[in-house]
Amino acid sequence: MCGIVGYVGTRQAQDVVVDGLRRLEYRGYDSAGIALVVDGDGDVRIAVAKKAGKLANLEKVIADTPLPASTTGIGHTRWATHGAPNDVNAHPHLGFGRRVALVHNGIIENFAELRERIEADSEQLGLVSETDTEVAAQLLELQLASDVDLTEAMQRVCGQLDGAFTLVAVDAHDPTRVVAARRNSPLVVGIGDGENFLGSDVAAFIEHTREALELGQDQVVTITADSVSITDFHGVPQEGRRYHVDWDLSAAEKEGHDWFMRKEIYEQPRAVADSLLGRRTAEGLLHLDEMRLSDQELRDIDKIIIIACGTSFYAGMVAKYAIEHWCRVPVEVELASEFRYRDPILDYSTLVVAISQSGETADTLQAIRHARTQRSKVLAICNTNGSTIPRESDAVIYTHAGPEIGVASTKGFLTQLVACYLLALYLAQVKGTRFGDEITQVVHELEAIPGHIESVLADDAVVLELAQSLVGATSVLFLGRHAGYPVALEGALKLKELAYLHAEGFAAGELKHGPIALIESGLPVFCVVPPRGRDQLHDKMLSGIQEVRARGARTICLAEEGDDKITPYADVLIRLPAVPVLLQPLVAVVPLQLFACELASLMGHDVDQPRNLAKSVTVE
Ligand code: M6R
Repeated sequence: MCGIVGYVGTRQAQDVVVDGLRRLEYRGYDSAGIALVVDGDGDVRIAVAKKAGKLANLEKVIADTPLPASTTGIGHTRWATHGAPNDVNAHPHLGFGRRVALVHNGIIENFAELRERIEADSEQLGLVSETDTEVAAQLLELQLASDVDLTEAMQRVCGQLDGAFTLVAVDAHDPTRVVAARRNSPLVVGIGDGENFLGSDVAAFIEHTREALELGQDQVVTITADSVSITDFHGVPQEGRRYHVDWDLSAAEKEGHDWFMRKEIYEQPRAVADSLLGRRTAEGLLHLDEMRLSDQELRDIDKIIIIACGTSFYAGMVAKYAIEHWCRVPVEVELASEFRYRDPILDYSTLVVAISQSGETADTLQAIRHARTQRSKVLAICNTNGSTIPRESDAVIYTHAGPEIGVASTKGFLTQLVACYLLALYLAQVKGTRFGDEITQVVHELEAIPGHIESVLADDAVVLELAQSLVGATSVLFLGRHAGYPVALEGALKLKELAYLHAEGFAAGELKHGPIALIESGLPVFCVVPPRGRDQLHDKMLSGIQEVRARGARTICLAEEGDDKITPYADVLIRLPAVPVLLQPLVAVVPLQLFACELASLMGHDVDQPRNLAKSVTVE
């Protein structure tokens, strides 16, 4: 949720930290702050600046009252959990003697108990904010008073904390080091030359280095300008996994677009193509690089449960149609946040597929852990190398979307769909439920998708015009059937997230069972029309469209080229390339993403940082 940066080196830490925060701001933007260890002729102290609101507010504070020079610093951009998003609750938080400054992502669950303990001890330790973080800052400072260094203090404090956290701290008595810890919350190390970095993700330091170190669970890391050392919470030395980040700074910049989201929408042809690259052997067989499950293990699977949240959940819904159709294995799709609370029936023959763009979603992570305790194998579909979810899974299929920075997922979703199709086809190959030439045919159809998305994007004028005409709408409905149903749900979610409109997606067949009562004159209703190849589906959808139109709805139909049957019933017609029904979500969702982006933009909303949201939700 929150974004965290740490730096030690030879540059001005303020510049490095603020630049890092700018790239992490998508993780949370309720407030921002920075702390520097300042060595003024032997008088070492901590200088802090923090401000409610977006990073720009903090930058203004620093511009008006410059911080002293320093080469050691930490920073934070916040998504509020404990306490309102105001100046006082903004991070960093200081210890009672201003010796320690601390930033935090996550929730310290036993903070009330720790707070009581601190407040009972002495009035001098009085806490000024409503945050759980300040409690940890006070505990750190108490430990330092007992003559241990910041690394040991951090180890001891982490041993007292329950919950999920990334903590990053500096000590005024030691300007050479930054110390951090993680449990169930993201943190990576950036390895530089004569400088080192910490970040919630690699975007924090990608401008300076593409060498990164992945940390394990319950670890403390200490960085100085030329060293990185890792221990567990008991001080036992540990190793991190070093890796090279395969994208560069340009991927984390807007490159001429006014929103990251718009850039990411237009990047989708490439993202889909990249996610398909290298998946076939010279003999034409599918292979999945990081699939660490043997063919026998896959053959033994008799049930699949897909767990995910938000947009990733909708990718899972599409996957169900594909896997059941191609592999004849029953598939359940479940919201990760509900999964472990219903006592699901799991065993070694159940494959759990966890879909997560960020690889850090707490609800999904906890569901994975539950599944593994029940002896089920877990396969992650993930976009973020080095993140927790693939690390804690038995197998992974990485999507290759590149960094997704807009809070609303777009290319993340499309590449998840690609990974789901590949998984389904791979299972079909291993289980022998489809002939090789059928699988090859679908792979060819998938390989044609980037070109189809390009044609949808080239035809964006109708969507832009539509967005202009719908400024002022207060309610919008989305209808779909079969694989078009998750597309309808995703179209509605995008609109809620970005335009703050009442938007709902329905399975078109359900309309007459209740939702049709919502239809009134002029209500915009998007209708995702199945391809004509599936006549029954197509014609049933057509009936649904006629029913809402008869009651005054304004129908916006997404239908394949050449589908003339639909024309008389469409107030607005958005043409889609002709693709098989199972693959249609890859093209049908694109105009809906674009529509939400444009409408929100026209309404004056911040498309990349919608209110109340954060990119990755690392608290349950
Ligand atoms: O990183 P994840 O895929 O696990 O995230 C899941 C959801 O939080 C995410 O898809 C969310 O719904 C997006 N804001 C949708 O645009």
